[in-house]
Amino acid sequence: MTTRLRKTVVLVGMMGAGKTAIGTALARTLGVPFIDSDDEIEKAANRSVAEIFARDGEAFFRQKESQVLERLLAGPPCVLSTGGGAFLAPANREAIARAGVAVWLKADLELLWQRVRHKTTRPLLRTENPKETLRTLLEARTPAYSKAEVTVEARADYSIDEMTQKVIGA
Ligand code: S3P
Repeated sequence: MTTRLRKTVVLVGMMGAGKTAIGTALARTLGVPFIDSDDEIEKAANRSVAEIFARDGEAFFRQKESQVLERLLAGPPCVLSTGGGAFLAPANREAIARAGVAVWLKADLELLWQRVRHKTTRPLLRTENPKETLRTLLEARTPAYSKAEVTVEARADYSIDEMTQKVIGA
C-alpha cells in the first residue's frame, strides 16, 4: 500500500515499547521510509549510543538527539522511531508537533521489562537494579508521553501486525 502521508508519524515511548518493530512494519504498510533517530545519531557521531553516553555524557547525547530530530522532521514524511527520552524536552515536543503526529506506544512495566531485560546495550539501564530504574523512568516520563497526540496501548498478546493496524486506525 502506498499512501501520501502528509506528516511524519513519530513513535514515542519507553525503551522496549516496540517502537522499532512497529515502526518498521508501519512504514512498510504505509509505503514510506522508516527512520530510527538513534541510528541517525550513531551515524552522525560515528559511534554507538552507549559509547556516546560513556564518552560524552547524556547531555551531549540529548543535544545530538534534538539536532537529529530537527533535521529528520524537516525532511519528507516518514515513520520516525525516537529514543525513549526524546519526547521529554519541550523543544523536541514542539518540533514534533509542528511537523509530525506523535504516537505514544504505551506499555506497562512488566511488558517493558520482559523486552529489555536481556538487552544490555542501553546505558540508562546499567544500574544495580535495572527493573527499578525502568519503573522510575516510566513513572517520571508518563506525564510527558501523555502529551502525544495519539496513544496506542501495547500489549504482550498483540502481534506486530495488530499493533500496526491499531496505530493506523488511531
Ligand atoms: C533512551 C532510550 C534509547 C536511547 C538511549 C536513551 C532513553 O532508545 O535513545 O539509550 O532515555 O530512554 P530506545 O528507546 O530505542 O531504547
